[in-house]
Amino acid sequence: MGNFYNDDLIEEIRVGNDIVSVVSEYVKLERKGKNYFGLCPFHREKTPSFSIEPLKQIFYCFGCGKGGNVIHFTMAAENIEFTEAIKFLAERSGVTLPEGDGSGELEKARLRKELFEVNKTAARYFYENLNSEAGHAAKKYLIERGLKENTLRRFGLGFSAESSDSLCKYMEAHGSNMDMLAKSGLAIAGKNHMFYDRFKGRVMFPIFDLRGNITGFGGRIIEANTSLPKYVNSPETPVYSKSRSLYALNLAKNSGIGTLLVVEGYMDVISLHQNGIINSVASLGTSLTEGQARLLKKYSEEIVISFDSDAAGQSAAMRSLDMLDEMGCRVRVLRIPEGKDPDDYIKKKGPAAFRKLIETAQPVVEYKTAILKQEIDTGSTEGKIKFISRLAEILSKLDSRVEMEMYARKIARDYGISEESVYGEITRKTKPGTSTRTIKSRESASVIKITDNEANKRLKQYEIKLLSVLCTDNAAYNDIKGKITPMDFTNGSNRKIAEIIFERLDNNIEIAPAELFNILDPDIAGDYAGIIEKDCIYDDYRKAAADIAVKIKSEHMERRHVELMETLNGKEKLTPEDLKRLLGELDGILHQKRKK
Ligand code: CTP
Ligand code: MN
Repeated sequence: MGNFYNDDLIEEIRVGNDIVSVVSEYVKLERKGKNYFGLCPFHREKTPSFSIEPLKQIFYCFGCGKGGNVIHFTMAAENIEFTEAIKFLAERSGVTLPEGDGSGELEKARLRKELFEVNKTAARYFYENLNSEAGHAAKKYLIERGLKENTLRRFGLGFSAESSDSLCKYMEAHGSNMDMLAKSGLAIAGKNHMFYDRFKGRVMFPIFDLRGNITGFGGRIIEANTSLPKYVNSPETPVYSKSRSLYALNLAKNSGIGTLLVVEGYMDVISLHQNGIINSVASLGTSLTEGQARLLKKYSEEIVISFDSDAAGQSAAMRSLDMLDEMGCRVRVLRIPEGKDPDDYIKKKGPAAFRKLIETAQPVVEYKTAILKQEIDTGSTEGKIKFISRLAEILSKLDSRVEMEMYARKIARDYGISEESVYGEITRKTKPGTSTRTIKSRESASVIKITDNEANKRLKQYEIKLLSVLCTDNAAYNDIKGKITPMDFTNGSNRKIAEIIFERLDNNIEIAPAELFNILDPDIAGDYAGIIEKDCIYDDYRKAAADIAVKIKSEHMERRHVELMETLNGKEKLTPEDLKRLLGELDGILHQKRKK
């Protein structure tokens, strides 16, 4: 969690704010036994499933799975970042925070603040331009494209004048420093301390972050036949990174709809919002970045992706789909008939028709199948075989057996293939008891990427359980010390947390469950709170820790065993040295198993 207050101070602030009294300011609580219950402020419900355990100072909602300590609660309730929550709680409990800690974080925060100011002033200038004589043609262009006055206002659209330095002049007159303007990306520094506008004669789209700050801009030319690029965008700055922004997420995240619709362009999103599709965001270009995918996951239960149906759009969509799938997102794909973009479509057919498209968007497997069908000519026997084989590959990656069978049946029907041949092919692609693991050497065995979701989940739960047990009873560390290390944790965030906890306990620094939450991202705090509340109740925590550690180790051994068998039985030719090494390792595993 990005913060620049030290651990002790954070802990002091946490301890100074009793979770029951903080939550009571938002939720009506009722005591039942040793816990408090109330209606969850984070999702709609009629019967209370939101609980607080005062002893451990954590909250957990059995309905929506949100959980954490008082800091997480404040972040979610006030919709603020970690550092802000610390400030909020410090003030509440009368703790004075130090002015920075010399690490430069405060300077960075100050710079960011200044850049937001610069962007805001510039956006105001662009906005005034658009609504004055200078922006006449630009405004006409936008209105002719169907945008309404209040839409222009809502999105803060503007216009950058044709001149090479009008923004620079305006900003200078308003007391801005030119170096800062260059840092914001709005100006480009030339020779002899001259500065020039980056955006000239363009419709300006301010890009907002989730808190309403302007982080950057996109600028579109207004006439079609020029050699200039259609869009110019802000460069990467301390406040803007394209790969971590989703245009209009600040609006879409409050739509109250669990689904987020991802389109490509500024104009698409604006047009959709104007037509009431207020859960749409734009990726600002074709393929999604990992950062954008993470944002999507965080703010939605389901993602519908609409990318252009040209070849570039399609392969970008594929990459994005696989990435979202790996992150465990629920995804469907919306294809716009006749290859139009969302803006064109909704203008021609209206919002009702567009909503229908969202409703009928295809689940990933169906989309991939359809694309495959386009690519392969299934008229010939050869084509048919290739088609089934590629399809089986897609299906074999599904986690759920039921889903796999459902699709196999559907595909057999849709494409006039016998069910047996589809099943047969899938079975050939999925060896029993295996998944899509990659084989690595023993050294990296603990960081193997495992896409076998069930096993993955089980292991992740064990890992969280072990860490929770260690925090509940610090003495339990003695029972696992040396037997398991942070490197044995397969889940990335769990591994990082394990490193911190192990190091503290190695140095005899105590840690309590609620304190553990100080280092947890809100994203995973709920998982931890859930396990602490439901599955971490033992008579003997020391024995529990030892047992869980053994389970984790044997889970690893099981996986490695399967992998070794796969490699040894596989088609790949092994060098005599490799063969010897792998057989030696297998021998070791079998020996261990026999001992048990
Ligand atoms: N884009 C870009 N630079 C370009 C072209 C496109 O940054 N030279 C990004 C923009 O964020 C744009 C998105 O890719 O919004 C989608 O591109 P496109 O579909 O061409 O633009 P639209 O937003 O649909 O614009 P319009 O409908 O006005 O042509
Ligand atoms: Mn368009």
